Amino acid sequence: KLKRVPLIAGNWKMNLDHLQSIAFVQKLAWTLKDANHDFGVDGAEVAVFPPFTDLRSVQTLIAADKLDVRFGGQDLSEHESGAYTGEISGAFLSSLDCRYVLVGHSERRTMHGETDEQLSRKVSAALTHGLVPVLCVGETADDLEQHGPSAVPVAQLKAGLVGISGSPEIVVAYEPVWAIGSGKAATPEQAEQVAARLRETLAEVLGDDVAAATRILYGGSVKSANIASLMREPNIDGALVGGASLDVAEFASISRFSK
Ligand code: G3P
Repeated sequence: KLKRVPLIAGNWKMNLDHLQSIAFVQKLAWTLKDANHDFGVDGAEVAVFPPFTDLRSVQTLIAADKLDVRFGGQDLSEHESGAYTGEISGAFLSSLDCRYVLVGHSERRTMHGETDEQLSRKVSAALTHGLVPVLCVGETADDLEQHGPSAVPVAQLKAGLVGISGSPEIVVAYEPVWAIGSGKAATPEQAEQVAARLRETLAEVLGDDVAAATRILYGGSVKSANIASLMREPNIDGALVGGASLDVAEFASISRFSK
């Protein structure tokens, strides 16, 4: 675990417009700096996932002020370019200096009907453009009742990695759907149990080295009050934060879980 730099990622979803995004990122960077956040050394890497329309503003601000904050898109198209109205390509994100991109968030799976097959093509598209895909997996409350804790997330991970080989840098986010926005996070033990199965799956599919290097995040009602206990688990390398990522002080304090 020590080798893996923790990642605290804020998924803003459809919140904060481009003006609000500038104020937010500036304040976040200052808050982390004031607290002497040692980025990527002992401290976590911090990343935000704003709406597409904010990305250019966020990129410009971070580059101009050399801020220690990474950023990424919330989705990308599986296609390269062309007649895909409303879509955003991996090339566009990468030319805006995005480092990451979320793939297969449960809201995209359920509200936009994204399938495992399509998501594996999105993972490939992200890697082709030098982006680190953050592949989101997780079971619903019904899945949990019917299939137990790890069957669905493991199947989603396997399906999302179809066609991927070599030693890609990817991040896996385990987000139980029942824990998202519910205020009821998984217990550290529950999250660890699934994270360990996900790491075994990575080892089966991409080999031990990739499994050892890949960061597995937990997401679902993460806040400053529960991050430390989650981070103590050996297979949890960070968090994907929704609601609590919209409050600068709270998100900064989640990012500084180890202090
Ligand atoms: O992607 C993060 C998210 O779905 C978790 O949301 O609000 O439960 O932290 P929240």
